[in-house]
Amino acid sequence: MQVVSDPRVYQQACASAREKGGGVALVPTMGALHDGHMALVAAARARADFVCVSIFVNPSQFGPHEDLARYPRAMEADGARCEAAGVALVFSPTREDMYPEGGETRLVVGETAAALCGASRPGHFDGVATIVSKLLVLTGSCVAVFGRKDYQQWRVINRLVADLFLPVQLVGVPTVREADGLALSSRNRYLSSEARSRALSLSRALSQAVRRFDDGERRAGILRQEAEAMVAREMDELDYVALCDTDTVQPILDDAIVPSRVLLAVAARIGGTRLIDNVVLGEDGAPSQQEQDSAMASEQ
Ligand code: PAJ
Repeated sequence: MQVVSDPRVYQQACASAREKGGGVALVPTMGALHDGHMALVAAARARADFVCVSIFVNPSQFGPHEDLARYPRAMEADGARCEAAGVALVFSPTREDMYPEGGETRLVVGETAAALCGASRPGHFDGVATIVSKLLVLTGSCVAVFGRKDYQQWRVINRLVADLFLPVQLVGVPTVREADGLALSSRNRYLSSEARSRALSLSRALSQAVRRFDDGERRAGILRQEAEAMVAREMDELDYVALCDTDTVQPILDDAIVPSRVLLAVAARIGGTRLIDNVVLGEDGAPSQQEQDSAMASEQ
């Protein structure tokens, strides 16, 4: 496995790999890799011979009071996981490599980024779009794999690739969860065991909404407020609980009747850690289903 930090060397490596045939795939990450990231790598491996993982904690997507400085960094373990998973190249540039002195060009994204995390983290998706476009331009024609755990990011990147005519085939991987339903996240390692068990309120609220939706509830206000009540009971601070259009990520008002597919997204803080989660009602199963299944199995 190659480990490359120079963007031009990375660009060249991708170009040579492409010439050999077999295709190039990129999995962009900020490192501290967990099984969610590795599911993206597996999806990439299924689609291309030359799989690259980028590991870069992108400063331009963090707000001034966010966790950039303490964001977990685990380069050695990450390298080992990538190598074991058959990754051909890890691209781990420095901040100066990706944002050289004198650089001034930035992307500005639009309405898809306006609600949810875009509203509570101003400029966040401009930073994500800027770094992802740099990574995709360096990689060239490729398959690029993202997680639906960051659903709004997934939609913003779909717009970005369409708007800039990038020669990229996007793949969106469903959220990977712990057995009890908690969505895997690099930030989970900040959680105490008490905070972790309270954080389960996110996936439980989503599971409850899936069941209510599957039982026929279509009133947006009821679905949203029931989820909100569950999350608010356990978490320190609610950021949002919102129903949105699955393509545009525009919020659906409480007095509306929801369509046959609708995004339910939550963000909340516990012990200083901000966690997000989502389901697409009408498409995804209940996140805590596994937990119920195993509870039922142990009861029998
Ligand atoms: P990061 O948080 O490291 O996530 C990298 C990729 O892994 C994203 O596409 C994210 O959606 C996916 N991912 C994270 N947790 C997941 C889970 N539990 N199940 C499935 N996929 C999961 O997202 C970023 O980094 C950055 O914003 C980045 C796109 C790299 C730009 O800096």
